[in-house]
Amino acid sequence: MSQSTVNAKAPQRLREAIDHAHAALASAGVPSPRHDAEELAAFVVGCPRPRLHMVGDLSAGQRTVFSELISRRVNRVPLQYLTGSAPFRYLEIAVGPGVFVPRPETEAVAGWCVDELLASGISAPFVVDLCTGSAAIALSIAHEVKGAVVHAVEREPAAAEWARRNATGTRVIVHEDDAAHALPELDGAVDLVVANPPYLPDAQRELVDPEVRDHDPAAALWGGPDGLDGPRMIEAAARRLLKPGGLVAVEHADHHGPQVAALFESAVESAAGAWEQVVVRQDLAGRDRFVTACRAR
Ligand SMILES: C[S@@+](CC[C@H](N)C(=O)[O-])C[C@H]1O[C@@H](n2cnc3c(N)ncnc32)[C@H](O)[C@@H]1O
Repeated sequence: MSQSTVNAKAPQRLREAIDHAHAALASAGVPSPRHDAEELAAFVVGCPRPRLHMVGDLSAGQRTVFSELISRRVNRVPLQYLTGSAPFRYLEIAVGPGVFVPRPETEAVAGWCVDELLASGISAPFVVDLCTGSAAIALSIAHEVKGAVVHAVEREPAAAEWARRNATGTRVIVHEDDAAHALPELDGAVDLVVANPPYLPDAQRELVDPEVRDHDPAAALWGGPDGLDGPRMIEAAARRLLKPGGLVAVEHADHHGPQVAALFESAVESAAGAWEQVVVRQDLAGRDRFVTACRAR
């Protein structure tokens, strides 16, 4: 792919530098050019975005760094890889090459898990986050459900390294393993299983944004010919891990609600009778986003 560069150093006045960056990002087709220009400016000057109006001039060093970051964003490097972090619920999650950037829609999945665990009254629930990536979901649950013991499973070594880094000093325990057969010692003992598995149909490879196609790890994205290989694997793993009455939440593509619900409603022969209360739930934008179910008692 050809690389574009923003050759000139950014103007000295911050406001002008942001305007120039905005124009460069907009002409490169970056979806939210003003937001990204301001986020990168805030990162460079080290102040929150709402306070940028208090900054007058950029130093020579700041102008150089800002221009370099804008050039990389023009080339569609994800914003979060440039700043090194992504917001997720109440946390900032460290991210970079090799790990999937956590998305806002997944916050609804984590939020449902938090609410259910708090309502359950279980003082130290056992939770498993399969396909954990950066460990964003696992860390949010550990942060918001004080007694929870959270196991996070990731198969890819580079992503598992980010998860371990983010989990340092927390109650999240990271396991580098395949979700399909991880944690057999917890079979039948887990209170809640959550997963955001790869779920895009392989045929969508040419349709996704350059940030996704060129930077998100392939193992985080592609879910086989119908996009359902990930949810199928999670249904089987959750059936094995959960105790009777335990809960599962699995994220899916926004057009896959009925198909994923069907996986839990005995469309898979081995799942017959295994699940109750199968529900398709929506994200904050109102799109079908995850299926929840209760392991039959
Ligand atoms: C869509 S990303 C989700 C990451 C994170 N849970 C989040 O919501 O931001 C899916 C993750 O699952 C991992 N993965 C894919 N197949 C896996 C498997 N069989 N076992 C464990 N992890 C897997 C990928 O490497 C990737 O990190």
